[in-house]
Amino acid sequence: MDYAVLKLIHVSSVILSISLFILRGIWMLTDSSRLQQRWVRVMPHVIDATLLFSAILLTMSLQQYPGTHGWLSAKIVALLVYIGLGTIAIKRGKTKRARILAWLAAIGVFAYMVGVARTHQALSWLT
Ligand code: HEM
Repeated sequence: MDYAVLKLIHVSSVILSISLFILRGIWMLTDSSRLQQRWVRVMPHVIDATLLFSAILLTMSLQQYPGTHGWLSAKIVALLVYIGLGTIAIKRGKTKRARILAWLAAIGVFAYMVGVARTHQALSWLT
């Protein structure tokens, strides 16, 4: 598939991922039952699978891989941290305070990942 198309798919799923995550966080904060809607529970998995799949195809096109290229290793690790913090924020956090902190931290990790993507440096926006 064309590199530009892949990148468009990747960036679109990135935008969908953070938009839905912020929305779910707001529903978590307001104790909204909308958080339990079926599509709200299924979509993050569909979006994240698309994000990861497009990421793998992009790394293959670029021939730069996690493990050999530091910025991609950083992105994989950050993705796992983002997912982990995300489940604490939406599901596992015992207190609302813990969930809010995890939600904010996940958004911070996400911003870090956008910086890594833009700069191809693990130092992200600091470079
Ligand atoms: C939530 C997680 C992620 C976010 C927020 C994210 C964000 C982005 C953004 C914004 C771009 C476009 C950069 C640009 O055109 O300047 C991009 C490109 C890219 N991403 Fe991701 N990404 C994520 C996950 C991943 C993962 C897990 C990998 C693979 C390890 C990956 C690999 C790539 C590659 C190879 C490119 C193309 C870079 C280029 O053409 O310069 N991404 N990503």
